Amino acid sequence: MTKEWQVRFRVNGNSVMVSVPPMTSLAEILRQQLGLTGTKIGCNNGECGACTVIMNGKAVASCLVLAPQVAGADIRTIEGVGGDKALHPIQQAFLDEGAVQCGYCTPGMVMSAVALLEENPNPGEAEVKDAISGNLCRCTGYQKIIRAIRHYAAGR
Ligand code: FES
Ligand code: FES
Repeated sequence: MTKEWQVRFRVNGNSVMVSVPPMTSLAEILRQQLGLTGTKIGCNNGECGACTVIMNGKAVASCLVLAPQVAGADIRTIEGVGGDKALHPIQQAFLDEGAVQCGYCTPGMVMSAVALLEENPNPGEAEVKDAISGNLCRCTGYQKIIRAIRHYAAGR
């Protein structure tokens, strides 16, 4: 039987502890242990970005982060962006620009955008493209996504 690890960390400002096998990914912990299903699992091998969350201030593919690496980390998921009653302004910008076509890639796109904008409040087009380069959109709606991020940055 696989030994379980107890992992304590913070999610969206709350302290949590889970007990999981060490090869459990952060994406699985979020979805299966904590019920935070806004984080999606697409490829499950670091290629699509659907599982993007912010870990210690940086956007990461949570399917590639294993339980022991999460210990003590500060994690933000799409559930921690905006609130129950109001969207985060970057989410609103996605809506305003028609940059939301499916529910699958969008949470990861938004998390990459939030991480970028917190580090660089006024990114150029190349920086926006670079920030979302790990997030695949099957319907190739990239122009609207890039516009949403840039308009949000310009309007602040
Ligand atoms: S599910 Fe993690 S990168 Fe695709
Ligand atoms: S909008 Fe989600 S895959 Fe294109």
